[in-house]
Amino acid sequence: MRALQSLALRFDGKRLAILDQTLLPGAEVWVDVTDPRAMIEAIQKLKVRGAPLLGVAAALCLACIAEGGASHAQLESDALWLRRARPTAVNLMWALDRLRHVLERGGSKDDLVLEAEHIFLEDVLLCEHMAEHGAALIKGGESLLTHCNTGGLATVGVGTALGVIHRAHLQNKRIHVFVDETRPLLQGARLTTWELEKLEIPHTLITDSMAAILMREGRVQRVLVGADRIAMNGDFANKVGTYGLAVQANFHGVPFHPVAPYSTVDTHCECGGDIPIEERGASEVLGFRELQWAPEGTGAFNPSFDVTPVALVTSLVLDRGVISQAELKAGKLALGV
Ligand code: MRU
Repeated sequence: MRALQSLALRFDGKRLAILDQTLLPGAEVWVDVTDPRAMIEAIQKLKVRGAPLLGVAAALCLACIAEGGASHAQLESDALWLRRARPTAVNLMWALDRLRHVLERGGSKDDLVLEAEHIFLEDVLLCEHMAEHGAALIKGGESLLTHCNTGGLATVGVGTALGVIHRAHLQNKRIHVFVDETRPLLQGARLTTWELEKLEIPHTLITDSMAAILMREGRVQRVLVGADRIAMNGDFANKVGTYGLAVQANFHGVPFHPVAPYSTVDTHCECGGDIPIEERGASEVLGFRELQWAPEGTGAFNPSFDVTPVALVTSLVLDRGVISQAELKAGKLALGV
């Protein structure tokens, strides 16, 4: 496989490595991922995370073991295990199914490696297209609000929602970004601020519960978020807290846009109710890292994602263009956009 490098994933010609996102922003530690078991663990612990990156990382992992001489049967079985590592982001299944189809068609290991490289390079291009379409929506001087992390750490390109924000910044639109901290694992506070700092984009961190005040005071002109799975009717799953933001944006008349590549659209899900939502352990809600602040034995509810109904979506920014709520409701996704 050719050498490939992104902000959080690299293949140097010999070894596949990920930037351990659980340690950011305190330490930038690259970890070799030598086999599918290690990749599954890294995915489940969110060392590698973000819907598009999950798919690309899993695909490169399978390509590596193909190059290492794994049999067809082993590759099929590892693809199935990797596919189950996390349930909500459909990009993981999408990427692995692309590789499985190569095997099913009788493709060689070289074909499989080539397909994995294509998946990586395609994600870079998809990000560019989303950035172009999304930035066209943003007017000069707008303050934007975003949730979770949707940038170069979540993709192998410039990102989805954060890619749009970056493009608007490069276009000198004088934007300011409010960043939701994104409880419980703080992807906004730890990762999005880290990326915005590097990109020199002006930003302010808020706790998730402060977004409504900013909207009421007219200090947010637009909300941009990512997506982990989009149903055919336009309902979509994203990091927990997105639904609440959408309700607040709707109440205050603030435009609300999910931004995602076509690999996030699931033709098998008719509506949001069909999207499987990952539930994670109580410890993530009871505290953070080694610090537990809730009393021992406290019960906790920890869905990692929530579903936002299409009725709260102003428009969806896809790599292929912007789709309005009316078009989503009319079934434009089902028509293949
Ligand atoms: O649990 P995570 O950190 O993998 O969740 C990530 C998100 O919810 C992102 O918003 C989503 O994957 C889109 S990122 C381009």
